[in-house]
Formats: sequence, structure tokens, C-alpha cells
Amino acid sequence: MAYIFLRFWLMLMCPVGVLSSSVPVVKRSEGLDVAGSLLRSVGAVLIKGGGQIPTAKEFETLAVSTWQAAGFPGLELGNYNKFGTVKRSMVSEGIYDVAAGAPAHLPVSPHSEQAYLHQVPRFCSFVCMRPAEVGGELQLFDNVMLGTALGNLTDKFAKLGLTYFRVMGDQIHSANWSYATGMWQDRFGTPSWAEAKRLARADAMMGGSSGAELGPGPEGTVVLNWTVPAVTWINTTSSSGVKPVRAVLQSILDSHKSVNYGTGIPALHSTWGDGTEFDDLELEALRAAVAQSQWASLKLEEGDVVVVDNWHYAHGRSPYEGQRKHAALISDRFPRNVKSAQEACV
Ligand SMILES: [Fe+2]
Repeated sequence: MAYIFLRFWLMLMCPVGVLSSSVPVVKRSEGLDVAGSLLRSVGAVLIKGGGQIPTAKEFETLAVSTWQAAGFPGLELGNYNKFGTVKRSMVSEGIYDVAAGAPAHLPVSPHSEQAYLHQVPRFCSFVCMRPAEVGGELQLFDNVMLGTALGNLTDKFAKLGLTYFRVMGDQIHSANWSYATGMWQDRFGTPSWAEAKRLARADAMMGGSSGAELGPGPEGTVVLNWTVPAVTWINTTSSSGVKPVRAVLQSILDSHKSVNYGTGIPALHSTWGDGTEFDDLELEALRAAVAQSQWASLKLEEGDVVVVDNWHYAHGRSPYEGQRKHAALISDRFPRNVKSAQEACV
């Protein structure tokens, strides 16, 4: 225990600006109790594998055992494709290839994994099977710091929440739709528009008790939209003990139409929870606050595993060259913790 406290204090003493040193490092051979304690106190831990790439099963065991040791004893591996809005190719059961999405020469905008859903994976984990030749750093962004940096906008997020939009194709009217959101008939497993609308309304995982709304989109496409809270309360550890604080848990910059990687109709979009668009000043403030909240940037080596508190930290990736091969997994999920906020208002 003394050893863990020493590591924690050493991290607190690290000079600001030495970003890569923010994430505590343990060796796989040190045991996962140490990794779990660091995950609980800091919110992220890098587990060095000494160059040995874990098998898919070993990766799963490392990640699950670490978050279970961090105080979530029953928390199991989550299912990415069952609830997400973009299908990812699987390296093996529950472990997905991170390469889908942004082209290598562009950054991946910061986001917490599936933060666009009402129920959000509590943890996520990444494994490096091959580092990029140039760039490709994993970046972590502090959602608590983001909440502070956004100032009044955090109150607006708490009040309005966020609405996310996904454009999908229709097998007849927009049969050429190629984005990974896919066709609505496949997404809902039915050719019936009425049944698909009913299933969307009943999707509590996506939109909570209000579910999601399915409607017509441009050029023969369809649009799915739903609203979720943007702010959650999480426990953070400092020298004065454990304290609940507000964090802005979102995937706006990864979902906004201004970050459209392709041509044609943007498949992803997000607005304030009342449907109004973010204006230019708000988007500028959001981008500046997100940049300010960057907490770590680390280039993983072969066999490295990082386990991240997905509510505390968003992640992104810098542009890269070469054959970068990383895989990821998520834990099971929960609705955001907005109860403390309500209690705080009483
Ligand atoms: Fe991600």
C-alpha cells in the first residue's frame, strides 16, 4: 500500500507539461492489484508487457482484472457493436480494431468511448500490437478539467444535455450509403419502418426513458436522434481524500458535422439538447477547452496495455504514418451519475 501511495505522490509531483509522465506505469509482472489501485486513484494506468503482445484473451483478462481491482468487482467486458451506432470490425469476441474511422493523416478528435449513448462504458482499454512509424500517440483528456475550462458552458450542458444525430442509409432509397452507420433495416433487424420507429423509441440504452427518434433524412437517407445528459459526477482522489466532482462526458468533436472525414452527407452530428446548433463561438470555446484539458500523450510500444476510466478521461489519437495496429475493448456500461448534481441543487 505504501508503495502505491509513493507512486501516486510521485505522479502528483511531476512537472506540468511533461504529459507522457502523467499516466502511471506498472509492469505486467507486478500484479494487477497495483494496476487496479493506480486506476482507482489516477483514472488511467499503463501496463508494460516487456514487448510481449498479449493474446486477445490475455488482453481481456488484464483489462477486466484491473478495473475489477479498482473497485468494480462484478464489472464485465462490454459489447461494442450491440449498442453503438457505428459497426467496428472485431479482432476477436469483444475486442475491436481501432483503425475504423479517421484516416491515418488526420487526428481522432477527443471523445469518451460511446459517450453519445445514455449508458456509457465505465472503462475502456487499448493494446498496442504495432506502433506507427511516425506519430500515432494515444492522447488522454481530463473531463473534469474540461468542465472547469468550459465555465458557464458546463452549466448549459448540465441544463440542456446533448442531442446526437446519426444518418443511416435506406436499402431502396439510398442504397449506395456506405458509411459505417449502415442501413436502418440492418440496424433494427426489420424491413418495417413502423417497427423500426417503435424499436428506436424503446431504446433506453441509447436515449434513456425517451428512447430515440427515427425520421426521414436528406437524399433518401434516414436520421436517428436522441438526447443524453452531458455532465456526470465522478469521484476523484487528491491529498485531501476522495471528492465527487463534475465531468463533461461527451463525444461532440468526434460527432459534429464540421469534423466530417468524407464527402457528401455527414453521418454524425450533435447539437445542444434543445436542438439548437452550437454557434461558432461555442464551438471555438469547446475546442480551446478540450485542447486545454489534454492530460497525457503517449506512444505505446508493442505489448503495452492502457486501462482508462472512460468517464474521467476522453481519448484521441495524433496523425500517424506506417502500419499502426491497436485494438480496444470496453467495460459494461451505466447511465451517467447525475444524481449528485440534483442533490447538490437541493
Ligand atoms: Fe474511441
